[in-house]
Amino acid sequence: MFRAERVLRAGGVTVSAVPAPPREAGPCTTVLEVPSAETSRAVHIIKLNGIETVKIIAAYPGRRGVTEKLAAVAAGSAFEQALGRVLKGGPPTLSDLRLLLRASGKEAQALRRTADKVRQNTIGEVIDIRAALEFSNYCRRNCLYCGLRAENRKTKRYRMTEQEILARAREISELGVRTIILQSGEDDWYTTKRLVKIIRDIKRKTGMRITLSIGEREYGEYSIFREAGADNCLLKIETTDEHLYARLHPGMALADRIGHIRAIKKAGYITGSGNITGLPEQDLDSIAGDVMWLRQEGIHMIGTGPFIPAPGTPLEKYPAGPAELALNTIAVARLVCPNAYIPSTTALATLERKAQLEGLACGANTVMLIMTPPGLRENYIIYGNKSVVDLTWALQMAKTLKRQVPPAIENGKEAGFAQHSVK
Ligand code: 5AD
Ligand code: SF4
Repeated sequence: MFRAERVLRAGGVTVSAVPAPPREAGPCTTVLEVPSAETSRAVHIIKLNGIETVKIIAAYPGRRGVTEKLAAVAAGSAFEQALGRVLKGGPPTLSDLRLLLRASGKEAQALRRTADKVRQNTIGEVIDIRAALEFSNYCRRNCLYCGLRAENRKTKRYRMTEQEILARAREISELGVRTIILQSGEDDWYTTKRLVKIIRDIKRKTGMRITLSIGEREYGEYSIFREAGADNCLLKIETTDEHLYARLHPGMALADRIGHIRAIKKAGYITGSGNITGLPEQDLDSIAGDVMWLRQEGIHMIGTGPFIPAPGTPLEKYPAGPAELALNTIAVARLVCPNAYIPSTTALATLERKAQLEGLACGANTVMLIMTPPGLRENYIIYGNKSVVDLTWALQMAKTLKRQVPPAIENGKEAGFAQHSVK
């Protein structure tokens, strides 16, 4: 894939790696997108370089029939024109995305309804439910916004042992959940060997898909964990604004972060990334740039959530990012990356519980349950008053929105596991 992208670019073809339409190529795979006028030249270049083309599929099935159904907004307004152009597909422009991101009132409604329609066409009606196990809140980093930062002495630290993690993973699996997210701060106590054992054991004993969300590791470890059985890997870019990135992440650089995300993708993971919206000193262009970057890198899962001030951090006195901006960002991400998996995040729920419901109604298709054992989860304070997203709430949201949940979860619920394990 990487070589095909390189040779096409060298041949002057406009190419981007984007998530494949799930109905055509299975969920969370990547395809190379080229403008239809350049398709035959692209196929020729690919062939000349001895690379096999598996399948050619028509782009943006999600957008079909959407344009006509746009809600009535002022005919021909700058907003409507921008929405029309973005819906057509192809690399979007910064100014169009900026116009969409700042939509309010009727325009915001139109934007979100359109994104919801695209989600319906590409992903369908099932809300994917995943479970996060926050197994350690130790972190060697000092991100200015995060309550887990090493210098936050107020955080009561904990680590789960390999046995505790496996035991909890088994309970999660019994609920009918098919994907577990192993989440932690950057904690070197979990050596390569320990993590390999944890991944292998969970895979062998539960068969669940395993998502790693453990921050940056050595490049070589990504492949080792992949071979051990990890399927997905999440590493947020947080912001693509180089200066803002450097200010928020002492001792870190945006270029290094990009290197890690590319290494994760290269190791064969279904790759997740995303950003924070409403950060101090972040403007709309910066967020538009984030969305363009996520598209260009062909990120399969896009987690975007509002900034929420965390007690005991240098940013504790700053205001939270607005819910409107967070929701518009979800909608824009859905339009620009129609086939991506997009969670309605815990951060949104923390801002306002109903905002998480709205996220699912404007392009998002996934919910992450917090399944960290009681007694520990209270100390995984990334930000203040973190909402506990449990199965009961997730099912309630699905019901309100008349959406479905995976059948195994319905069965797990009927077996009475919901009450037993979530509280
Ligand atoms: N507000 C919003 N999101 C935050 N994160 C960390 N701290 C905050 C905060 N104060 C998010 C980051 C990080 C993930 C662990 O949580 O995106 O990747
Ligand atoms: Fe650590 Fe992640 Fe928090 Fe940064 S955002 S301090 S890396 S847990």
